[in-house]
Amino acid sequence: MDLPKIHSITKKLFVALVGSFLLAFLLFHMTANLFILRHDDGAWYSAFCHFMGTNWVVKIFEFVLLGVIALHILLTLWLAVTNRLARPVRYHEASRSKTHGGSKLMVWTGILIFVCIGIHFYDFYFVKVGLVKGDYMVEVEKLQNEEVNTIMQYSAQSGMSPADVVATVENQMAMYADQISPDQQAEMHDNLDKLRNAVPVAELMSTAMMEKRLSEDGKWIRHLDYEERTMLKESVPDCGVEPDFYYMAREKFSHWHIVVGYLFFFFVIFMHLRHAFPSAFQTLGLNNYKYNPIIEALGKIYTWIVVLGFAAVPILVYLGL
Ligand code: HEM
Repeated sequence: MDLPKIHSITKKLFVALVGSFLLAFLLFHMTANLFILRHDDGAWYSAFCHFMGTNWVVKIFEFVLLGVIALHILLTLWLAVTNRLARPVRYHEASRSKTHGGSKLMVWTGILIFVCIGIHFYDFYFVKVGLVKGDYMVEVEKLQNEEVNTIMQYSAQSGMSPADVVATVENQMAMYADQISPDQQAEMHDNLDKLRNAVPVAELMSTAMMEKRLSEDGKWIRHLDYEERTMLKESVPDCGVEPDFYYMAREKFSHWHIVVGYLFFFFVIFMHLRHAFPSAFQTLGLNNYKYNPIIEALGKIYTWIVVLGFAAVPILVYLGL
């Protein structure tokens, strides 16, 4: 098989650069996840996810990140294949080098991480891009407009449902229709249409209030299902309805098998990172005999902090702490 000829060290350099970017992302992601541990009804974590989901710089970063992950996988596989092709005859004796188990298993742990990230995306990221159904939330302020507010006000005063409020207005308008000019009638129909369109949103707001689905600060409606999200996207396209990742994470980590699955994911990452950190430094030429022990130690500290930080979330949530 003929693969494009690029010097092995150039490929390794790319892998190291791309890998370093991923090491930085992991630390960032782990730190942000710790907000899930706060018992604040998701105030901090939701604010963080809201920022991540709405800021355009972050959106560009997200594309870059996904591209970088794909590039990292392709480059490492390419490197593995070309290295193997360069030495078609296996060594007679198995290597007795004392490299970490992670070093020998890099490709396998990489493949496992790829599978785990797929499952992880199914749990969270795909909900954000609309490929999987989840649990959603929306800012109350974004749903309020003149019509919704009017309906809600009459509904609160009369005790009628929003649909009944609009039906009553409709009946009354029909009664007086022959007493007003055609221009006034046209205006009346316009207003009536706006009121009718506002009914589903007003209904949603009033059921959410009845079912106590408002966040503690009253700013968000929580626990919207997929149908409610679809209705909102159609009725108020710019309302910014978004996944409720705080609740979703807490709900998922209340099941032991999901916790075990994620701990396995972190273990594989641990195996991968043990080698990744010093290896990136070596390839980038940032190591030498004097600093090697420091780099090794930094690598260990980084790996333990990231893996324990990630593991803390499912474990502590499961334990109800
Ligand atoms: C307790 C563990 C974890 C939780 C609760 C968690 C949660 C999340 C959530 C909620 C998102 C969607 C955020 C958004 O798009 O606004 C996300 C995205 C993502 N996660 Fe995780 N994650 C965990 C561990 C990991 C690990 C170990 C990795 C990598 C090896 C990882 C890689 C990613 C990637 C690449 C994305 C997509 C990019 C992004 O949206 O930032 N996650 N994760």
